Amino acid sequence: MKYIKIAVGFIFLISAEIIRELRSFRVTSYKITLGKTVSDETGFDKNSLREGISDRTVSGNQGRSAGEHRLVFLSDLHNQVYGRGNSRLLRAVRNAEPEVILAGGDMLVGKAGRSYEAAADFVRQMSSICPVYYANGNHEQRMKEMPECYGQDYFEYKAKLEEAGVHFLENDSAEIRLGRLPVRITGLEIPLSCYGRLGKGELNKKQVEERIGKRKPSVYEILLAHNPVYMKTYFKWGADLVLSGHFHGGIVRIPGITGIISPGFRIFPRYSGGIYKEGTQTAVVSKGLGSHTIPIRLFNPAEVVVLRACERDGNHV
Ligand SMILES: [Fe+2]
Repeated sequence: MKYIKIAVGFIFLISAEIIRELRSFRVTSYKITLGKTVSDETGFDKNSLREGISDRTVSGNQGRSAGEHRLVFLSDLHNQVYGRGNSRLLRAVRNAEPEVILAGGDMLVGKAGRSYEAAADFVRQMSSICPVYYANGNHEQRMKEMPECYGQDYFEYKAKLEEAGVHFLENDSAEIRLGRLPVRITGLEIPLSCYGRLGKGELNKKQVEERIGKRKPSVYEILLAHNPVYMKTYFKWGADLVLSGHFHGGIVRIPGITGIISPGFRIFPRYSGGIYKEGTQTAVVSKGLGSHTIPIRLFNPAEVVVLRACERDGNHV
């Protein structure tokens, strides 16, 4: 009887925590050095790839250091709403005082008959804060590529957002400046077969170049690539900074170590969420803001990612 009571109490606590996490989000802040030489502010081996142990959570705006640029990165909202009209989420984005907002895909739910209005309304409102660049995830991409299943929803969604000034990057790039630094933002769409649940499709550097061309040596390359499975290919392509999502942090996390399962049922997915470095290249994988197939989050808060990017003297500007 005693053990039954303990088990019931445990299940109750876990359930309460899941419900709490599904209704809240945090702001995760990463420091990034712009330029070819990345300083090792995070204190781990530059030449190794490790889970995101350097993330720092902030509860609002932090003092901006000289030469710092703020970028907000959002992914996998999946139509989630935080507060009326997403007011809580919008406030968090606004408080970060970003120069640029980057949407990394799966902001809506790509299922027949599902409304995209919550996502459209939120992204449209963000465009009043600063320029918004939007790369598609598998949900938007399948709606676009399979109109026989999803009708014209994607095209209506995109048209509404473009009308509000949102820049869609569908295997396309936009060049901006952060201070003195020329920056190119590219949105990558990979074949939908690369999102398959059983095994994975191949994706090599040549296939990436066929879609978005070669990296440009004279700019800092930010690559919005929704699916982190192919991180090594993105690094081989030459991205200075890769921004991904898709894994929702691994649904349930072993705190400080890794996520357990992806929404596509990949067990212990690599790059489940956090910051990763390989040499001078950096990747940030968002743990996402919403959920769809598995409506669970445990020890895995939804997040708004704030990139606090500093220019480094002597970089390639
Ligand atoms: Fe996704």
